[in-house]
Amino acid sequence: MNATAEDMTWQDVAGLADIPPLGGRVLVIASHEIALLRNEDGEVFALDNLCPHKGGPLAEGTVTGYTVHCPLHGWRIDLSCGQVREPDCGSVRAWDVRIEAGRVLLRLPR
Ligand code: FES
Repeated sequence: MNATAEDMTWQDVAGLADIPPLGGRVLVIASHEIALLRNEDGEVFALDNLCPHKGGPLAEGTVTGYTVHCPLHGWRIDLSCGQVREPDCGSVRAWDVRIEAGRVLLRLPR
């Protein structure tokens, strides 16, 4: 899923109500898994569903504030940018998200 900015477009991918508060849901786009994650304030974030440690499914992680805790070994990942929080290191791709009229839109390749 490598694309230039011109190749990207906003796409309606889910209803806000389909994503459990403090949890996640997997979205599959062209065999690529993206974790849609929702915090207690109702904000939605999108990260590749692949922990940079050993590939844990981030959509099954626990959300607290602006962090998802990987379900396998507990690495903490920033929801807004995909950066792993110290003392661990690494990153996972974060996707742009927008909410409109109860729908979740992601900026994805055309
Ligand atoms: S696979 Fe995510 S912390 Fe190990």
